[in-house]
Amino acid sequence: MKFFIDTANLAQIKEAHDLGILDGVTTNPSLMAKEGIKGDEAIRNHYKTICELVDGGDVSAEVFSTDFESIVAEGKILAAIHPNIVVKVPMIKDGIKALKWFSDNSIKTNCTLVFSAGQAILAAKAGANYVSPFIGRIDDSNWDGMELIGQIAQIYALQGFKTEILAASIRSSLHIVRAAELGANVCTCPLDPILGLLKHPLTDIGLAKFLDDAKKMQH
Ligand code: G3P
Repeated sequence: MKFFIDTANLAQIKEAHDLGILDGVTTNPSLMAKEGIKGDEAIRNHYKTICELVDGGDVSAEVFSTDFESIVAEGKILAAIHPNIVVKVPMIKDGIKALKWFSDNSIKTNCTLVFSAGQAILAAKAGANYVSPFIGRIDDSNWDGMELIGQIAQIYALQGFKTEILAASIRSSLHIVRAAELGANVCTCPLDPILGLLKHPLTDIGLAKFLDDAKKMQH
């Protein structure tokens, strides 16, 4: 499973990249706004900096438009920023049409705001490279986000769809483990749930004992 970080914060991206396990970055307008990025030029420069930081990994950049012509025009500008840009397109009717256009024109895409298996089928049919089911937000609504990951994985395997399942809106380390178990190709989340994977009390106890015994072997 690939690890993407879901942030537009350069320090977090750098920290995750320095761990050596980062495969890419996802952003969205809320995450970009949180970093205070304003204006077309600043947006393009920020995406370029992220692409250079992650050094070869896919970087999702979301369009703001909602009609076909504007989504395509915006997506072309985003894709021209760097070869690793993946154009993030919302799950709407014109979005589906644009996903197909991008697929026919060799521009990589991520279909976002996916909350059902039916939407995931449409994204795959349109040729999206990634589909982003929002696990945490489904859980927030008292439904089971993980059930959707399993359902999409089963459908894509049965039907031979090539679209990669990008488990998004991940809120905890356990979400990452469950997504991996259920066949998600990618998980995207902030740095904390990734670092949370490190934690186990027996590791801490075991290390303390090893370090203690190591002292006994020194003069
Ligand atoms: O980038 C899409 C998704 O990961 C958003 O997550 O935590 O805002 O639901 P969240």
